[in-house]
Amino acid sequence: MKVGVLTGGGDCPGLNAVIRAVSRRLFARGHDVVGIREGWRGLVDGRFEPLGPREVSGLLPRGGTILGTSRTNPYRIEGAVGAVLEQFRAEGLDALVAIGGEDTLGVGARLYAEHEFPVVGVPKTIDNDLSATDYTFGFDTAVFICTEAIDRLHTTAESHNRVMVVEVMGRHTGWIAVMSGIAGGADMILIPEQPVSIEDACKEIRHRHDRGKDFSIVVVSEGYELEGVADEGDVDEFGHVRLSERGVGAQLASQIEQQTGFETRVTVLGHVQRGGSPTPRDRVLATRYGLKAAELVHEGSFGRMAALHGDNIVDVSLEEATAELKRVPDDWFEVARAFFG
Ligand code: F6P
Repeated sequence: MKVGVLTGGGDCPGLNAVIRAVSRRLFARGHDVVGIREGWRGLVDGRFEPLGPREVSGLLPRGGTILGTSRTNPYRIEGAVGAVLEQFRAEGLDALVAIGGEDTLGVGARLYAEHEFPVVGVPKTIDNDLSATDYTFGFDTAVFICTEAIDRLHTTAESHNRVMVVEVMGRHTGWIAVMSGIAGGADMILIPEQPVSIEDACKEIRHRHDRGKDFSIVVVSEGYELEGVADEGDVDEFGHVRLSERGVGAQLASQIEQQTGFETRVTVLGHVQRGGSPTPRDRVLATRYGLKAAELVHEGSFGRMAALHGDNIVDVSLEEATAELKRVPDDWFEVARAFFG
């Protein structure tokens, strides 16, 4: 078989580790691998590059993606779905491994349902918001980076008696905030899934200061619903509002300062959370996902996605994987809440 590989959506650490594992296993099974440039855009435009052992060597620790990525959605561009099918056929491809999140895999699920397109998915995203898998790769690295930042902010917060607000990514779910907040010992965590009001958050901060602590760390998800902060502004090619532009962290910091009188500063971690080398855990997860995806292709099991259930790598349907967002359940938030105030 000649197998195409693409990476779509926001990049994240571990993409190259998947490309390496998929390719290595496919070579071992006697197949050829072709890289597709910049996600679905490369299939619309026919931008291919052969991947051999030399191209996939040295990739395990490397951040980003050697194939480039984009948020191109062929279903939102006139004639693009036809172009994808035609380019795929013209290049002589037999199968595709799509490494992406909800959007990229959503396109794969639809192509499979409507055209029996031979695609297999791998769940990528720092947001960890894909249902049907316990964890996506890239998430652990993002949590590691945020935790390190929170640790650093602790020491400066303590020196100056300040409230430090840390805004993290995660889109409409609070996975990064909750996990890094628990790991970093946050005094308050605000996420889209939990309607904690700013008044209640300030009450907790005051309570903490009343019991002798002169500083506080507040972690907030970019998607937290704060009164007066609207979902407006630029949208990406998949139609999602750019949540970073809502400026939730800055607004929250100013409201905390007004309501509590404590000096407050904000740090927006931004794309640092997606950069650099994957953690060992993400390297291993990406590698296991890559091997599984290659085996699914080899068996001809299309319309499936590699997934983690407990400690086992399994496969699930792409339809199921993209049906709904995986939100932070209450019991995870309760772990965090035990240390508020
Ligand atoms: O989905 C990954 C993610 O990093 C989100 O957490 C964030 O909202 C978004 O992508 C940022 O997108 P962009 O790279 O287009 O600014």
